[in-house]
Amino acid sequence: MIAKHSAPMLLSIPNVRNEMGSLGVIEFKSLIDFEVKRTYFIHSIPEGSERGSHAHKALWQLMFAPSGAFKICLDDGVSFYEFKLENASQALLIPPGYWRTLRDFSSHAVCVVLASDVYDESDYIRNYDEFLKWRSS
Ligand code: TYD
Repeated sequence: MIAKHSAPMLLSIPNVRNEMGSLGVIEFKSLIDFEVKRTYFIHSIPEGSERGSHAHKALWQLMFAPSGAFKICLDDGVSFYEFKLENASQALLIPPGYWRTLRDFSSHAVCVVLASDVYDESDYIRNYDEFLKWRSS
């Protein structure tokens, strides 16, 4: 496992392309070093929506946009990062401990998330001041 509080990172998703289309592969160990216990996806997103506005204490996530595009802002309380996911060849690795906001969704955008654990509300921090306190503790 990459050390806690490591930086977010864009990873290249290997795609096998031929005349019949493209096949993207995300494999344990060769691309990500956490085992995926949950996959969820966000779709049918109304124009102007903002999602996220929370951080995770222990969860690792890999996020990508197989369709459409959106922006992800990450904040560790000191540094700010902005990424745009807009194709099936790039994924964003989000370590634990980042406040995230997802916005500027294009029409037909789909956000797929591979997560290191099952859903657990107690892993969320949904208040920004609490997040800053947690980060600095
Ligand atoms: P949330 O993680 O807050 O989504 P977003 O950051 O995109 O706004 O989750 C939205 C709702 O969905 C919340 O009520 C919790 C629920 N949910 C689950 O039941 N299971 C899951 O795996 C996830 C990610 C969310």
